[in-house]
Amino acid sequence: MKILGIETSCDETAVAVVEDGHYIHSNVVFSQADIHATFGGIVPEVASRQHIITIVPSVQQALEKANINFSDLDGIGVTNGPGLAGSLITGINTAKGLALANNLPLIGINHLEGHIYASWLDGHNPESKPGFPLMCLIASGGHTDLIVMKNHGNFTLVGKTRDDAAGEAFDKAARILGLGFPGGPAIQKMSEKSNGEEPSFPRPKIKNSLDFSFSGLKTAMLRRAQEKKLYPHDSNTKPDQKQIPNLSAAFQEAVVDSLVTRTIEAAKVYKTKGILLGGGVAANTLLRKEFSKRSPVDVIVPKPNLCTDNGAMIGAASWFHLRDTLTYELDLDVLPKLRLG
Ligand code: KG4
Ligand code: ZN
Repeated sequence: MKILGIETSCDETAVAVVEDGHYIHSNVVFSQADIHATFGGIVPEVASRQHIITIVPSVQQALEKANINFSDLDGIGVTNGPGLAGSLITGINTAKGLALANNLPLIGINHLEGHIYASWLDGHNPESKPGFPLMCLIASGGHTDLIVMKNHGNFTLVGKTRDDAAGEAFDKAARILGLGFPGGPAIQKMSEKSNGEEPSFPRPKIKNSLDFSFSGLKTAMLRRAQEKKLYPHDSNTKPDQKQIPNLSAAFQEAVVDSLVTRTIEAAKVYKTKGILLGGGVAANTLLRKEFSKRSPVDVIVPKPNLCTDNGAMIGAASWFHLRDTLTYELDLDVLPKLRLG
């Protein structure tokens, strides 16, 4: 069964054709990052207007690359939350129009569930190896959630951030250092040039909980940048720019250490057979390395381009919903604050 997966919850217009929840025939991602970079972050109205411009060409490209027509499709899957309302509306209305015109089932997908199902792509099957239950860490620009997946459709939220999301922390730290948007990849690149001399940042301490916190780290970064005259950005002062790679590396290390430590702790508490990573921050090279070094159980992580927002993950999740006969009516609404578990 071939499904068209549509994702427009934030600043990527993404459309893919996925077969049987595992095989990608095409995966078109139109990133708006360059447009939002000029504003230093995502501007919701700009995002929704860009989706309107790019959604139809993205659908056409996804079909062309997969070398199929609408008549070859078995369903239309679309993210219906969480996310920016104006952005979600473009994807949903496109999906409804396509479902109605081609007499195809419509499947609404929770974006976080989509990030989890990215691990089923490229022929992988975490259900058989390592098997359920899985401890899923979804770390993105809007979420840092620990979710126990006991089976398909069975999710329980067991930990979350109390303030900033991990990706948001990267984005804010990059803004302080003048590294542009999105911050995660910029901080990762800068860190490669570090000589490791910056002292470690303090780790957040939340006792008796599997929650995360990143706002203290962001404040610590701001203070150090101010002390080193790197912030505010002032063309009259001449700060030592060589400090930026060291600060970036210390910051990245602190975020990664928090994520890895808490997730492994959670996997032990819930006795899960594996740890599954998803969301843009899971594309981080240090995070991937540290998990594989420190985790006592199998770690499942999609290729970096399947960690960041894409349509293939929505196509994969949709197939499992369709298989379990979970279909949706054409009055499907956007749910900007939708949760998982
Ligand atoms: O999942 P995603 O593409 O969109 C949301 O659902 O939010 O995640 C985007 C977030 C951004 O905050 C971005 O800075 C972060 O993921 N990110 C990274 C990396 N690539 C993207 N963070 C750390 N290292 C990376 N390589
Ligand atoms: Zn996402």
